[in-house]
Amino acid sequence: MGNLSRLLKESWTIVEEHQDKVAGYFYARMFISNPELRSLFPVHMDVQRARLLGAIVTAVQTLDDPERFDEYLRALGRDHRKFHVSPEHYQVVGGALLEALRTFAGEQWSVEYDQAWSDAYAVISKKMMAGADADTNPPFWHAEVTAHERRSRDIAVFTLRPLQHPVDYRAGQYVSVEAPRYRPRLWRTYSIANAPRKDGTLDFHVRALGAGWVSSALVRRVRPGDLLRIAAPMGTMTLDRKSNRDIVCVAGGTGLAPIKALVEELARFNRNRWVHVFYGAKDREDLYDLADLEKLAARHPWLSVVPACSEDASYAGEQGNVSEVVARYGPWIDHDFYVSGSPTMVKSTLRTLAELQVPPLRIRYDALSEL
Ligand SMILES: Cc1cc2nc3c(=O)[nH]c(=O)nc-3n(C[C@H](O)[C@H](O)[C@H](O)COP(=O)(O)OP(=O)(O)OC[C@H]3O[C@@H](n4cnc5c(N)ncnc54)[C@H](O)[C@@H]3O)c2cc1C
Ligand code: HEM
Repeated sequence: MGNLSRLLKESWTIVEEHQDKVAGYFYARMFISNPELRSLFPVHMDVQRARLLGAIVTAVQTLDDPERFDEYLRALGRDHRKFHVSPEHYQVVGGALLEALRTFAGEQWSVEYDQAWSDAYAVISKKMMAGADADTNPPFWHAEVTAHERRSRDIAVFTLRPLQHPVDYRAGQYVSVEAPRYRPRLWRTYSIANAPRKDGTLDFHVRALGAGWVSSALVRRVRPGDLLRIAAPMGTMTLDRKSNRDIVCVAGGTGLAPIKALVEELARFNRNRWVHVFYGAKDREDLYDLADLEKLAARHPWLSVVPACSEDASYAGEQGNVSEVVARYGPWIDHDFYVSGSPTMVKSTLRTLAELQVPPLRIRYDALSEL
């Protein structure tokens, strides 16, 4: 671990147990010095829902080598244009962050710790500002819901038509989405489930989580005719067109969305790469898009689809977690991998692939999906 990384992690352990108080102080400091910033944040801000401080702390600790994450940070900066964030705001937020850390660490804080946090924050925010500055798109797009279909108890598939010019993105990327009519100022990221189309429409697959604010509105309340907002595309799980290796896609639940976009992109030019899609869900009702995938497989001889259920004993197909099912097929040593699903599913698939000795460089997933 580098020295900067050590200092950042070591110093965070001093304040970690007072996280809620650090967050309270951070937001109070920011809003008192710049009251106009309050309107950017969610209306109700309990600590659970206040995400910025947690996001910055995670970013500072994870991105100790910002060069490696250059594209992510530039995209995050473009994405933050949806909040109308300006360079002065970065200073205010950085100042409030350091004040909060100093205050709660007390005497255990040191000049070295201070310098480490301000250096890391400065590098990260500079990259975000550069990304925002270079972006010629609008800060966000208004998009009309043109179709909305409930596919299971808690999953909906819907289509958006951006009203201004088209969103320029690559299959496999995701965008932040807001449903202003139902959940103003709450943005969450969702993967685009189709390759770019001539008419610019975008499909999404969303699962309503029990207590989830945005997902429940997107699944249960949104209807055709509603206007949503979407921000700049992000993410690096895009197709490596230069590779000629065969491909394995591993999808869990609505993690299928970006995989479907990748398969659609392949359908436009692929002739000679075998593509295997492993699609895991709890039970057969949760395999909400299997019929569409099977249609694609019937049309393209290079595509095979293996569905699997982890909690449906009477299901006639593969049984078990999708990563176990992948391990049953194979060997996969010469394949490119694309992995998408919940953080737990992605982690267990990466573990399995490590055991199968798949080189990490051949595996694409959104490493920062937990930020
Ligand atoms: C890169 C990326 C792409 C994504 N793409 C998709 C997509 O295509 N489709 C999709 O449905 N979702 C996707 N998500 C997840 C999505 O961004 C939201 O996190 C999710 O919809 C929950 O938001 P919410 O506002 O409803 O829940 P919140 O209000 O944020 O959370 C409410 C509560 O639900 C619980 N919770 C949160 N997440 C989970 C979880 N995964 N499992 C169980 N409990 C949880 C937490 O305890 C939390 O307190 C993606 C996430 C990332 C990072
Ligand atoms: C180093 C600088 C920054 C980083 C790494 C960063 C990162 C992030 C990330 C990853 C999120 C999403 C969190 C989530 O939804 O789980 C987020 C949310 C947000 N960010 Fe930033 N951000 C930075 C600076 C700023 C600045 C300067 C502002 C302007 C005030 C800002 C305003 C917001 C707002 C309003 C949210 C939504 C908060 C919420 O929903 O509670 N961010 N940030």
